Amino acid sequence: MANDHDTVVYEVSNGIAWLKFNRPEKRNAMSPALNRAMMEALDALEFREDVGVLVLTGEGSSWTAGMDLKEYFRETEKDGLKGVRKSQRESYGWWRRLRWYQKPTIAMVNGWCFGGGYGPLFACDLAFCADEAKFGLSEINWGILPGGGATKVAVELLPFRKAMYHAMLGEPIDGKTAAEWGLVNESIPLAALQDRVTAVAQTLLQKNPVALKATKDAVRRVGVMTYDEAEDYLVRAQEAANSYDNEGRKEGIRQFIDEKSYKPGLGAYDK
Ligand code: ACO
Repeated sequence: MANDHDTVVYEVSNGIAWLKFNRPEKRNAMSPALNRAMMEALDALEFREDVGVLVLTGEGSSWTAGMDLKEYFRETEKDGLKGVRKSQRESYGWWRRLRWYQKPTIAMVNGWCFGGGYGPLFACDLAFCADEAKFGLSEINWGILPGGGATKVAVELLPFRKAMYHAMLGEPIDGKTAAEWGLVNESIPLAALQDRVTAVAQTLLQKNPVALKATKDAVRRVGVMTYDEAEDYLVRAQEAANSYDNEGRKEGIRQFIDEKSYKPGLGAYDK
């Protein structure tokens, strides 16, 4: 089913929500209308019982060509600081929402990914791209610094020298290089990309969903903590997860210890 706003479309099939940037004629550049439509789509999908994993991809030749230079920058600047802050809130808002989304998320980068696109790229828990995709911090090429979190994403995901080169030179890199550098998990020929992402999503659908949410949040949180803080956080996060899921982990222990039907080191228990 498509939602009301044609800049974003989605459909749900076999537990996977396929959410798409849908301005192919503008290379899926993020306009204020698209940013608002994304937030609405994320709202609509987050707690649906038939959604276990969300995949974010793009229609046409682009994942997203970053912020819309005309509609996001030039036109909102006409309204002064009020307009600028509003459009920033709308874009940063859905990226933040995606970073802490209830369901596991996968970026399926089918083509161009520039500048502001690094926000949703980082917001997704996992990322797979086409060999044919191109990634770039192109801000420097039109005269700004990589803002909107893009510099932070580069520094989080890349070694220092590569982050600096990527931000200062503004040269696009292909999918294979993006995987080598750590911007994405894997790069795959475009023709095989959707099958690979579907297989990963299906594996995630087998896991305990309460544990998945606790795990993805933990991976994002512990990076800035000391070891002792992380240890404490993880104890408390598991105890909080227990209150939402008393039975799942007990069943996981039972199937391993009593039934001997699986090995947690090698795969998931039977939900
Ligand atoms: N903002 C606004 N319009 C855009 C954007 C964008 N980011 N990207 C593409 N478009 C528009 C073009 O203006 C063009 O519109 P028109 O048909 O009305 O003339 C249309 O999309 C198609 O774009 P082309 O450039 O013709 O497409 P092509 O496939 O040849 O090139 C490419 C694709 C490389 C992505 C090119 O469009 C491009 O360089 N876009 C800008 C990328 C960029 O630097 N984005 C900003 C990053 S910085 C930030 O996000 C803060």
